[in-house]
Amino acid sequence: MKALLIWFVLMNLDKLLKTAHCTETQDQVLSITPKTQEQVDILKNVSTQYETALWQPVSPHYIKEDTQVHLFVPANSSETVKDQLKRHAITHEVLLANPNELIEMQTRNDSTDPRSSSTFYERYHSLEDIYFWINRTQQDNPDTVKVILIGSSFEKRPLYVLKLSVNNRPNKKAMWIDCGIHAREWISPAFCLWFVQYSLSFYQSNKEITRILDNMDVYILPVLNPDGYHYTWTTNRMWRKNRSTNMSTKCVGVDLNRNFDANWCTEGASDQPCSEIYCGAFPESEPETQAVADFLRSHKDIVQIYFSIHSYSQMLLFPYSCTLEEAENHSELLEMVKEAAQKIQRHYRNNYKYGSGANTIYLAPGGSDDWAYKLGIKYSFTFELQDRGRYGFLLPPSHISKACNEALLAVKTIALKVDEKTQAPTTPA
Ligand code: ARG
Ligand code: ZN
Repeated sequence: MKALLIWFVLMNLDKLLKTAHCTETQDQVLSITPKTQEQVDILKNVSTQYETALWQPVSPHYIKEDTQVHLFVPANSSETVKDQLKRHAITHEVLLANPNELIEMQTRNDSTDPRSSSTFYERYHSLEDIYFWINRTQQDNPDTVKVILIGSSFEKRPLYVLKLSVNNRPNKKAMWIDCGIHAREWISPAFCLWFVQYSLSFYQSNKEITRILDNMDVYILPVLNPDGYHYTWTTNRMWRKNRSTNMSTKCVGVDLNRNFDANWCTEGASDQPCSEIYCGAFPESEPETQAVADFLRSHKDIVQIYFSIHSYSQMLLFPYSCTLEEAENHSELLEMVKEAAQKIQRHYRNNYKYGSGANTIYLAPGGSDDWAYKLGIKYSFTFELQDRGRYGFLLPPSHISKACNEALLAVKTIALKVDEKTQAPTTPA
């Protein structure tokens, strides 16, 4: 009997060891809350010295006492990172023990599933599939959907905007939505696809979207940063910036949401090319930024509402992010996001914070929303979709539907409010 047991253990030794070994050296996402300034400094160090990806906050600069840090730690730096933490008595929790499984789940079946299947919008899609979808959506809806090429990315990928337009009323106003400015925020492009699909399916049956589309055209840019997005599918799921290179540095990429001309590269952005919040060499240095800015400049008289979709943290933000000063119509914007957040709470039992960017998260100059606002688009917003850190950037496909419906409710609420406010009075005074 004993011999049998020994035999069994020996036969399975490699398996047992492997399992133990594997859990030790897998990629993980850690949640760490520094308690002292010393711990803050150690954490800043760890996240810059070792191969890790900071999920929250966006840059080590913002790490502070008693505030959760979410850190993606790849298997090969796991031991050293945990060693450092232990040495300085910094405790951590494992937020995600299996990010690789989640990543696998998010990329599964993308090209094998029929593109028309009913779950198409509840999955994430490769860039190639999104291009295919753009083309097909236009072909299937020739009267409502136009595709506009507004420019190309650093690696020369096309930047396509979908224009939804159900009628040709004179002096029609418009709304803009962009998604995927940050590569790893996959729920964002998923939302743009969701919005288009919803609009095309429920025009004439849902009274809110019908009213919105009757009164305004909608311009949708599903992937503002195609090079970065492609890179997250092929090489590094945690990539945030675009993929531009520069002779003067080995670091790749500019944070496109720090590259717009709104208090460009002041506090809250970095002039260091290796930083995740690198502002670029000059405002609009990046072809993606320039394409969007050029398009909006040439349409500024018709575009009334600007939305930029990000994740994660569940927030509805409006200008300014580049200064602590209040926007001229601050209270009007605050009213709108408050109403949207309340509706989300009522319908979906989910909490969204709201307020001006600088006061709700941090100073972040060079953002697209502030730039659009300064251009004259007085209803300008940045949404941070689900979740609040449970899965972070790796939100499972099963959550896409709820995350998008929440954001859709917020977009509809705000668009209807703006429409109401800007309608010419029916009875002249
Ligand atoms: N979290 C996003 C970022 O770091 C959005 C922050 C709000 N900033 C802004 N300019 N809207 O870019
Ligand atoms: Zn973002």
